[in-house]
Order: sequence, then structure tokens, then C-alpha cells
Amino acid sequence: MSQKIINHQMIIDGKYTNSITEKTIEIECPANKRIFASVPRGNEADVDIAVKSSLKAFRSWSKVMPKERGKILLQIADAIEIEKEDIAKIIATETGNAIKTQARPEINLVVDIFRYFGGLSSELKGETIPLGEHVLSYTRREPLGVVGAIIPWNAPVMLGACKIAPALCAGNTIVMKAAEDAPLAILKVAEICQKFIPPGVLNLLTGTGPECGEPLAYHPEINKLSFTGSTGVGKLVMRAAAERILPVSLELGGKSPSIVYPDVNEDWTVDGIIGAMRFTRQSQSCTAGSRLFLHKKIFDSFIGKLSEKLDKLIIGNPLDDDTDIGTIINNKQFTKVCDYISDGLNNKNTEVICGGLPPEDGPLSEGYFTIPTIFRNKSNEWRLAKEEIFGPVLVAIPWDDEEEVIRMANQSHYGLAAYVWTRDITRGINAAHAIESGWVQVNQGLAQAPGHSYGGFKQSGIGREFSLEGMLDSFTQRKNISINLNTPSKEI
Ligand code: NAI
Ligand code: MG
Repeated sequence: MSQKIINHQMIIDGKYTNSITEKTIEIECPANKRIFASVPRGNEADVDIAVKSSLKAFRSWSKVMPKERGKILLQIADAIEIEKEDIAKIIATETGNAIKTQARPEINLVVDIFRYFGGLSSELKGETIPLGEHVLSYTRREPLGVVGAIIPWNAPVMLGACKIAPALCAGNTIVMKAAEDAPLAILKVAEICQKFIPPGVLNLLTGTGPECGEPLAYHPEINKLSFTGSTGVGKLVMRAAAERILPVSLELGGKSPSIVYPDVNEDWTVDGIIGAMRFTRQSQSCTAGSRLFLHKKIFDSFIGKLSEKLDKLIIGNPLDDDTDIGTIINNKQFTKVCDYISDGLNNKNTEVICGGLPPEDGPLSEGYFTIPTIFRNKSNEWRLAKEEIFGPVLVAIPWDDEEEVIRMANQSHYGLAAYVWTRDITRGINAAHAIESGWVQVNQGLAQAPGHSYGGFKQSGIGREFSLEGMLDSFTQRKNISINLNTPSKEI
């Protein structure tokens, strides 16, 4: 069956446009491997036009009353809300994330993000400094200028919104590059934004990392870089920032621990572990609790209950309302996840508890479907327990000494999220304080909510964006103004 391919355009200076080269990138639906759309393959010349447009827009947008900018964000939230079901379908089609468990919650969160930051415009406050009666010394929070933002494909609209909303609220303009695998839903959101903001305030580019992302990172008129994606590319972006001493926010990978104490209610905690591991997002999440430290006393019964519940989750068409688990984003990531599973299956020190390689025939073989897989291993040192897999592969490690388990949890160059499960709240809090991660949840495995100063320790990143403090730290710069009030009157 041939499918109609829809050719989308980028948004530059309020207008829809192709790349100067007229080249395009094909967009594949990961659930059936069919090409269903294309976007422009933007390059350095397109980046230059976009940045110049945003620089021009900055001159007036930065002068718009903060209250007005906030009002615009609230209007955008209302407009997105009206179209949220259509956008959820786009997300499910381009990412393979199930509409019920991921795509709808993601777009709902996007509405919340615009509302949250829309309400914060009057909080862009400065301080006064007490230097005595004869000096007025105060600070202003000024916008930085044009923000260069690069986003990934795993939660493309949520990750886009949590850069767009705070950047615009604070008076910056923004040039954003979408991920080549999932540019359509964020394009739709950018299109909605255009109805309320002047041209150039938000430009949305599509293209590859090297051809479009890199020239954006190195463009001389960008004043701030904000990146979410792999640690490898994060380092490249930080290098680009170093060239011009730019502020940079990086939200990178993770290999987050989930520590389960023996006093938990096992049935209830099993649901929490499934949530924390983001199994219904195929675990394509930087906050996935992918190292499960289970106390020895409950290891066998807990893992039995966990695999039983995982087995009941429905894997299938992301657009189907019964589906719990969709697909991996593309062939590259699918192959990578399968390589890790093969490695686990061939490792003599490892036992596979459930799952394994994806089926080679039947309906699931038509897309990049994988099945939740758990390996049991004694060691925290093994490749599968160290590297970010970005797929539904959970490594379960037994423990019985608290100090040792905290040491193992911290034995990672990542430090993004962590989960602690115990009915003893004192233990839970002590563990939370001892874990080297930017975000620790005790007895829950939820997604971020606006207001969390969310971000990473160690190589999981630098900077915070998702809160009032995040907006102030990441999207404004402080200017100090000192005025001597003790000036003598002019001699006559
Ligand atoms: P990636 O880091 O290559 O892609 C993220 C974004 O960076 C995309 O928009 C891409 O076009 C852009 N990019 C790539 N190379 C660039 C360059 N040289 N200069 C500027 N921009 C560039 O991630 P990819 O290849 O999609 O996934 C690989 C791994 O990264 C995953 O397996 C996962 O471990 C990790 N990842 C982490 C994410 C997170 O949320 N922290 C999101 C996506 C991936
Ligand atoms: Mg795709």
C-alpha cells in the first residue's frame, strides 16, 4: 500500500520555508517502517537567516512588558490545549510512543509548561544591595539575546517546550533545531506559537546534527546554548560554547539507580519500578531507573511479580488506545538495543529473567518493537550495568549491605535521577541525601513537573531549566547598577 508523503517546511521569520538547498529528510514511522513525511534538510545558510531574524526580533521582544509576554504564553497554552489530541497523534506516529501512556501525557505536560512559565513573568525580579544611605545599588535580570536550542526525539514537544517557554518569558528569542527523527509535533507547536508572537521570536529549523545543529552551536550571534541529548554531542556543544564563553545548559544521559529495601509492599512497588524504568516509553528516557538494586531477602519474589506484570503490558500500534508499549525510534537505536540484549544473553554471569530479542516474524516484526527484558547480574561493573541503553533492558542486582548499595548506586559517571523504595522514611531520606544525582524520588517514579529544578550531576549535565530558578539562572543575566546619591549640587 502506498502512503501519501506530506512535505513539511521549517518556520523562519514567521514564514514557512524550505532549505536553501531544497534538500529534504524523510520521516519514517517506526511502527511500520513507512516513510510518511519529509522536512527540509536545513544547513548553515538557513541557520544564518534564522539567527539574524531572531536577533532582529530580540530588539523589540526584549522590550515587551513581561506581563504581556506572560499573557502570550498563556494564550499559546490555551491554543495548544485545543489541538492536543491531533498533536498527540503526531507524536505517536513519528516517535512510536504509545498515545495512551506517553503521547497524550506529553502534550498535557506541554500545556502545563506554557501555563507555568506564563504565570512567572512578574518574577523576573532583581535585588537591591544595602551599601548605605548614599548609594542605590540594584540588579536587573536581563535576557541574554538569541538562544540556540537543540532537542532530541524521545519527548520532543516536552523538551522543546521547556526551553521555549522560559526563554521567551525572560525576553529572549530562540532558534531551535528539532531532532531529525521527530520534528513534526514540535513544528506544529511552533506553528501555534506563531499566531501569538512576532516573526523571528521563535524560529524552528529541521536538519541533521552536523549540518544544522553544529552551525547553530557555532553561530557568532547566538548568546546562549541549550542542549538536550547524548553526552557525546553535549561535549561538542560545550566546546562550541567555550569558543565564545557562552552560557550553556546541557541535559544529557543517565544510568539511574532504583534501590528497593526489604520492607516494601512488593505489589505496589513493582508498579513504581515499571514507572521509574519508563517501560511504557520503551525506556527511551534519560531518567529511566535502569539499574535495579533489589534487597536479597525479596529478590526472587519481587522479580517474579515484576516480570508477571510486565508480561501483561500490551505491545503494539502506538495509535491504538489499548497499547501500553510502542516502538523504538529508529533502526539505529533498535539495532543498538538488540546488541545489548544479545550481549546479555551471551554473558555467562548473567541470567535472563524475562524478555529477550524481539520476535523476527508476526506483527511486531513490522516495526521497531522490543520487549521488556530483565537480566540478573551480581556485578555493577558490567557493560549493561554501566552504559545508557535507551531501551527496555533492566539490570537487576541483589544487595544486602546498605553502604555497599549506595556505593554501587554512585559508581557511575552519570547522575541524573534515582529512586529509593522503603517504608522507613528516615532511611529513605538518608539514602536520597547520599545519592549523587540531580533528582531523587522516594517511593515514586514519576515524570518531571514544572517547578522541579531538574538536571544532572556529573556527566549527566549542567544547569537547570524547568523551574523559576531554572529560568532565572539559565535564561537571564544579572546586571548590577550602582548609583552614587551623594552628588553635590552644581555651583552657581
Ligand atoms: P544525539 O545527541 O545525537 O541527538 C540529539 C540532538 O542533537 C538531535 O537534534 C541531533 O540532530 C543533534 N546533534 C547531533 N549531532 C550534533 C552535532 N554534531 N552538533 C549539534 N547537534 C547535533 O542523540 P541520538 O543519536 O539521537 O541518540 C543517541 C543516544 O543519546 C541515545 O541512545 C541515548 O543514550 C542518548 N540520548 C539522550 C537523550 C536525553 O534525553 N538526555 C535524548 C536522546 C538521546
Ligand atoms: Mg522516525
